[in-house]
Amino acid sequence: MKSVRLLKITMNILVINGPNLNLLGERESDIYGYETLDELMYWLSNHDECKDVNFEFYQSNHEGKIIDKIHEKRKWFNAIIINPGALTHYSYAIRDCLLAVGVTSIEVHLSDIAKREAFRKKSVISDVCFRSLNGRGKISYLDAVKIIKNR
Ligand code: DQA
Repeated sequence: MKSVRLLKITMNILVINGPNLNLLGERESDIYGYETLDELMYWLSNHDECKDVNFEFYQSNHEGKIIDKIHEKRKWFNAIIINPGALTHYSYAIRDCLLAVGVTSIEVHLSDIAKREAFRKKSVISDVCFRSLNGRGKISYLDAVKIIKNR
């Protein structure tokens, strides 16, 4: 008799949120909505689509701390989902860091950065990310997970 063993494949995803995203829920709610970052990450981690995903969530207002976290966890994660906040628009250090660890990275933004102020239209990380997702609020994070799982 043949025995069939089901192998459960789990993914490790590091989710990084950058400066000022700790103030979600009270910060410019007309743009970013009323949910807090904790609520948003709780929703993501409990979504059906994410049952087989191990997440580590990290938020920092400091560029260097974000880089340290990515370095520290680099042997653990299979992919990164990153919303670098305003660092998106000028942090070559974060760009270099994503290149250095060399895993699939997905850039996400709650708002549609292409339709806002001129300085937001430029992302210095988008060309080192597998995909960039804008303007769908928290759904962008879920879309990022789906893309990573289907790679
Ligand atoms: C943001 C867009 C950035 O331009 C801004 O600086 C943020 C949030 C977004 O999620 O829409 O802090 O990354």
